[in-house]
Amino acid sequence: MADLRVLSIFGTRPEAIKMAPVVKALEAAPGIRSRVCVTAQHREMLDQVLELFKVTPDIDLNLMRPNQPLAQLTAQILENIDPVLADEHPDWVLIQGDTTTVMAASLAAFYRGIKVGHVEAGLRTNDKLQPFPEEINRRIASVTADLHFAPTQLSRENLLNEGILDRHIVVTGNPAIDALQMIVKLPAPAQVDAWIKEWGIAEGKRRLVLITAHRRENFGEPIEAICEALKTLALHYGDSLQLVYPVHLNPNIQGPVKRILGNVIGVTLLPPLEYLSLVHLMKASTLILTDSGGIQEEATGLGKPTLVLREKTERPEGVIAGVLKLVGTDPVKIVTETQCLLDDPKAYDTMAHAENPFGDGRAAERIVKGLLDYTN
Ligand code: UD1
Ligand code: UDP
Repeated sequence: MADLRVLSIFGTRPEAIKMAPVVKALEAAPGIRSRVCVTAQHREMLDQVLELFKVTPDIDLNLMRPNQPLAQLTAQILENIDPVLADEHPDWVLIQGDTTTVMAASLAAFYRGIKVGHVEAGLRTNDKLQPFPEEINRRIASVTADLHFAPTQLSRENLLNEGILDRHIVVTGNPAIDALQMIVKLPAPAQVDAWIKEWGIAEGKRRLVLITAHRRENFGEPIEAICEALKTLALHYGDSLQLVYPVHLNPNIQGPVKRILGNVIGVTLLPPLEYLSLVHLMKASTLILTDSGGIQEEATGLGKPTLVLREKTERPEGVIAGVLKLVGTDPVKIVTETQCLLDDPKAYDTMAHAENPFGDGRAAERIVKGLLDYTN
């Protein structure tokens, strides 16, 4: 029998991190011919991941443009992926998550009658504006997909509630945990060790709070409010706290973050970090503040109390586990909840315990098996 032809398509940092273990598993699987196409919806932030995991794309569409509008990016992806699908004629297109790349690639594959496998299927907030536009992107991926790799039972139930047949859903865990387990055992880069020493984290002189924020629905006032809250915390705790914020390259984030926090003592702004460094900084942190999707999974896996800078999450498993708490973007609430965790050891201990509702590190293996076992 001819090999199953699988074309993995991804474009941004988080897709690359979660697809890297899947690509490795596809490459190692007998009976599969694995190819990789990157849209490069992200450029630098994608390349950092490709380099770390040693994934070399077969096709690189190089589509990122500065401050790209959603409609233009969608149009570019659709137009540029179609000839790739025509050339490659894969049996399956494999996509991950809820970005514009995922939505447009799933649609392009559907137009060409190519089967779609959706990794991290079934995450929902049931609010089309939160997160924006990801809730709609992942719904479009769900209606085009033939095989849904749901990370958890809850995501499987979300798909069943939308009328997707159980035999088209495979519960796999999230390959975010596969990636985390692959990386967390590697030694920290020298630069991270140097920072931890310089900031006095190792000797316990200061505690580390790690921050990331980049969501589109937080552009404008909400991101400014987050920054004001961080400034208040820096002033309040003085030199007993080190706030560290690797800033996403989106100009809508770079602008306000650098303007409000650029000169605040106790706040260190960094460029986006290579994943290995970020994982080691998460490990060294006392607390994480984030609106990221992937960091909610990783923080839960590492047992790091995390305040989620959103009103709603599609990852309630972490909230149920007790490691994540939703705080939104109201600066008073962010400051109060952070103070509560930093000043009340009991409140902190209640949240600080590692749980892995998002996976056991074997998602990639189950995804490959799901593709090979598929029957229409
Ligand atoms: C995208 C995804 C979001 C995901 C996030 C992960 C969509 C609509 N959004 O948001 O779901 O959570 O990636 O980080 O798909 N930029 C660079 N270099 C890079 C990356 C981005 O300069 O390596 C700048 C560019 O100006 C680019 C802008 O950031 O135009 C926005 O990138 P885009 O991928 O459209 O949106 P994100 O906010 O990164
Ligand atoms: N990440 C990283 N470097 C950073 C910030 C985040 O490697 O400076 C990783 C993080 O550990 C997680 C992923 O990028 O695996 C999350 O990406 P992001 O928050 O941009 O996207 P989301 O998950 O919200 O879609």
